[in-house]
Amino acid sequence: MSALLSARGLTMQFRGLLAVNAVDVEVAAGSVHGIIGPNGAGKTTFFNLISGLLRPTSGTLTLDGRDVTALPPYARTRMGLARTFQNIRMFADMSVLENVMTGMHTRLKAPGWSAVLRLPGFRAEEHAAKADAMELLEFVGLADKANGRSGSLAYGEQRRLEIARALASRPRLLLLDEPAAGMNPAETRELAVLLKQLGQRDVSLLLVEHDMGFVMDLCDRITVLNFGRKIAEGGPREIRNDPAVIEAYLGSKVAERLAKAHGA
Ligand SMILES: Nc1ncnc2c1ncn2[C@@H]1O[C@H](COP(=O)(O)OP(=O)(O)O)[C@@H](O)[C@H]1O
Ligand SMILES: [Mg+2]
Repeated sequence: MSALLSARGLTMQFRGLLAVNAVDVEVAAGSVHGIIGPNGAGKTTFFNLISGLLRPTSGTLTLDGRDVTALPPYARTRMGLARTFQNIRMFADMSVLENVMTGMHTRLKAPGWSAVLRLPGFRAEEHAAKADAMELLEFVGLADKANGRSGSLAYGEQRRLEIARALASRPRLLLLDEPAAGMNPAETRELAVLLKQLGQRDVSLLLVEHDMGFVMDLCDRITVLNFGRKIAEGGPREIRNDPAVIEAYLGSKVAERLAKAHGA
């Protein structure tokens, strides 16, 4: 399999802190790739470097062999990269369907003023966009809520809506930051089922997750970060038995407990 996304020596320094330190990662086309690591390991920072929200201190990033290191997020979206956020971001007062349609603006061709004048070209495009959006809502299991207010969706449903909106830009690589965060076990299982179907749509996945079980169930390949560095990489079984990974997680658990005991 060829690399869809390739990070080489990716580094992000915040003043004195190396949040991401010389990380190499290759995401193969057609794969589900997970980035895991304890709190503060650099997962979100790594993710923001890939989506273009942050510019790396050093290192390069290629998408389909093209250097995208200097490209802003919208240009990466046009090249087939889409993302969701750790904290859900959507337009609560818009309908569920309208929220999905906001994810399509990067690929709609009719100029904005044609919408104001409601020209035929715009109406045809709007019609097609609506049909596409409905199909995505069916895919994520929200078709019956299409006309409801987004803000009134349950938490797990909002996560699904975010995924539908990200898919609306027709990405080849979907980036998910902690998609299972805040979900109950049933919602988490449903989400895993949904994400496993993305391969059939030629969408590869790169997900950052704190929940090891979820990642082990879903991913073909896993990269483990700790203190900004890559400490392990491989299939779920290898990672589960890797002493450095076990130590990193145990270490962070002990640290969390100590912090709690000291009232931090
Ligand atoms: N904008 C920032 N400025 C300074 N330090 C940051 C910034 N963002 C993250 N960090 C620090 O970088 C490290 C990695 O953070 P983060 O990428 O959020 O980790 P994770 O997502 O794995 O929990 C942490 O020590 C965090 O405090
Ligand atoms: Mg994070």
